This record gives sequence, C-alpha cells and structure tokens, in this order.
Amino acid sequence: MSNQGQNLYKKAKTLIPGGTQLLSKRPERFLPDLWPAYYDRAKGVDIWDLDGNHYIDMCISGIGACMLGAADPDVDTAVRGAIEKGTMATLNCPEEVELAELLIELHPWAEQVRYSRCGGEAMAVAVRIARAKTGRDIVAFCGYHGWHDWYLAANIGSGEALKEHLLPGLEPSGVPRALGGTALPFRYNHLEELEAIVKKHGENLAAIIMEPIRGHDPQPGFLEGVRAIANRTGAVFVFDEVSAGFRLTCGGAHLLFGVTPDMAVFAKGMSNGYPMAAIIGTQEVMSAAEKSFISSTYWTERIGPVAALATIRKCREKAVHEHLIRMGDLVQRGWQKAAKAAGVEIAVSGMKPMSHFVFAGDKNRAMATLFSQEMLARGYLASLDFYATYAHTASHVEKYLRVCEEVFCIIAKAVKEGSVEAMLKGPTSRSDFSRLT
Ligand SMILES: Cc1ncc(COP(=O)(O)O)c(C=O)c1O
Repeated sequence: MSNQGQNLYKKAKTLIPGGTQLLSKRPERFLPDLWPAYYDRAKGVDIWDLDGNHYIDMCISGIGACMLGAADPDVDTAVRGAIEKGTMATLNCPEEVELAELLIELHPWAEQVRYSRCGGEAMAVAVRIARAKTGRDIVAFCGYHGWHDWYLAANIGSGEALKEHLLPGLEPSGVPRALGGTALPFRYNHLEELEAIVKKHGENLAAIIMEPIRGHDPQPGFLEGVRAIANRTGAVFVFDEVSAGFRLTCGGAHLLFGVTPDMAVFAKGMSNGYPMAAIIGTQEVMSAAEKSFISSTYWTERIGPVAALATIRKCREKAVHEHLIRMGDLVQRGWQKAAKAAGVEIAVSGMKPMSHFVFAGDKNRAMATLFSQEMLARGYLASLDFYATYAHTASHVEKYLRVCEEVFCIIAKAVKEGSVEAMLKGPTSRSDFSRLT
C-alpha cells in the first residue's frame, strides 16, 4: 500500500536533523514505518494524509494547539481579516493592547503583559524577567518547560538523578556547562523537595516554576505551600499555563485553585494553531523586563494577537473548557470500561481535557504500538493520549470507544497468545520523552 507520508519522512530525515521540528510529532513515537506522518488537510477532527486517506483525530489534536479543532472558522475568519489589513508594518498592531486588556480582565491579579510566539520561548522570557527582577540565578522547577538553555541546564552532570524529574533521554549537549546547578527540579506534590532546594539555595533563588496542574490534582496545601515559600524567599512564582491554560476554565487553570502566582505563561491553548504566547504578571515583577533586553521582530506581527483574541472570545462565549472536560471525562470512563470488558489492564491519568492511559505490564510499548496500528486501520489517529477539542462531539467519542473496545479485545487476545510483537507490521514505538507530572 502506498504511504507517501512515510516516503517523505524518509527524505525528511536526510534533510532535517531529527526529521521533525517537535519530538512529540515524530512518527516513531506512534507507529514506526506506518504512521501517515504528514497531513494534506485538517478540519475540525477530520484529517487527510498525503494519500487522501481520511482519519478522525482522537490523538493529540495538534499537540494541544488546536483546542477549538483544526481550522476553526471563527479564528480563521479573524486571521483572514488581519491578512487583508497587513500582518507586519513599521507601526505596531493595536490588537496587542486589546489582548493585554483581555488577559488582565481574565486574571485580575495581573497588571502587565509581554508576548512571544512559542511556549518554550515564553518560558525563557519569564525566567529572564525573574532573574532580572531578583538579581539571582537559581530556578527551582517542576515539569516540562521547553528546550531552552535555562531548562536543559538541569540535566548537566546529573546522570541518573534526574530521570524521575525531567525528560529521560534529553541530552544537555550544547548547553554551557557553566549553567550546571542553576536549574533544580522538584516533583509535583512534593513540597519537601522544594524545601530542600530552598534550604541550600534560598538566598539565590530567582524563580519557582511549575504547571498548576498536569497529571494529578494538587494535594491540599501544596500550591499554597509553594506560594508561601516564594513569599518567604522572595523568589518569583511562575505558573506555566502553556498546556493547562484555557482547558479547565476560561484562563489559567490556577484560577480554579485560588493560588495567585507572580507571573503566568500562556501559549498553545490561546490561539488555536496560530503562533502566540503571553507572559502576564504583576507590575512589580513585569517591570523588570525594562531592565533586560527582551525583543524580537516577529513578536510584533499581527496574526498571533488577532487569533488569540478570536480564540479566547470564543472560549468564553461557548464555555469551551466545559466541553473539553466533558469529552475528556467520557473518554477516560470509556477507556476504563472498554479495557475492563476486553480484559486488558490500563491505568488512566491526566486532567480530563488532556487524557492519557498506559497499558500494564512489560509488553506495554508493543501493546501501545498495536493499539495505534489497529486504530489507524479503522480510521483513527490514536495513541495513549487524547486531547479534547471543541470539535469533538459525544458521537465521535462514542464511536471511537466502540472501536477502542474492539482493539482492546485484539490486544488482550494477543497478550494471552504471546503474539503482541508478532502482530506488529513495523517496529515497536519509542517513548523516550515522558513528562514529569
Ligand atoms: C507546560 C509546557 N511548557 C512549555 C512547553 C513548550 O511549548 P512549545 O512547544 O510551544 O515551545 C510545553 C509544550 O508541550 C508545555 O506543555
């Protein structure tokens, strides 16, 4: 069978180091040699590969960047308007002021806003501002925050020690060794690990950086405890809302927990597939941005702010987060039910709009690969993650879950017969990138 996507991907690997621009979109992570790899067209939850095959995306939905669904008509109309009026000019676009007002309205604790265009980049801006504000170097962090030097510095000289904290397999190659010891990890819900960092480095702690929520709910007192430590040490408290933002409420997930940071960072949840990121914060902290050189040409283009305004307004008007939670809840409960009926053991986790499961046992990677293989054969892009969008309907979920049950039965039978690997039409998928929380 023709697979133009795989052929193109083979060529890509000779032209583009690593094959793709994002680790999480590498075909090897899903279905080596067989994943369609490239799309021709995407609309809502429908996606067509280069051979014209149609799939329903019950997978990562543009790795979380298409919260309203691919090519949302309202956002795209607004973007077309921006294109008509010119997306780049000698003067600034007024929408960046309008967006600042909207973000501050949604987060009344915040007073000022800066922009960039990607999540990791925005986190690097936040770290720079925190270091400029405090005049200190060390960052205590929990979770994944991008590819920049400040973050990967955590892996310098740490050997196995960081396996539980960071991203196994991420080499800090190319990051100056002098940054070793400047980024120190603590685990979610482990306040004592943050306390241990503070005990040693409290005087030089510039920032405490974490997602407000990811795989697990915060234990009572955890977020409040982090806030108290930030107050005590003078470190800047930053919530990374790049993934959680706008999925659990209209704004940062931290709004749900009643714990206010000094800065919060938004990106892929805010602009439905168009590059945009925002760093919001108190005036006291954000004004330090004026002491440091933080500046980039394309942070002034118009499409990002226009797409963000349209996305956020739609999220607010339609209570999109409620839909995402509902879809995620249906999927999480459906996975459990289907697995039980089929006789496979799975563990489900993740906040509802970004749901995740794993197969139990030492064959779990092969089982995951078989899952993607058999789902693909039945017209679904599917993996161990389901990122809900506003375009997913209860009917999509219902049909998907019926197919899941069918595929779980195939997997259960293969496990019983010891034929999981033998049933794979290509190599087993590789997952050398797991999240902290
Ligand atoms: C919590 C968090 N922070 C930062 C990033 C990095 O964002 P980007 O991939 O846009 O650079 C991600 C991306 O997955 C993320 O989930």
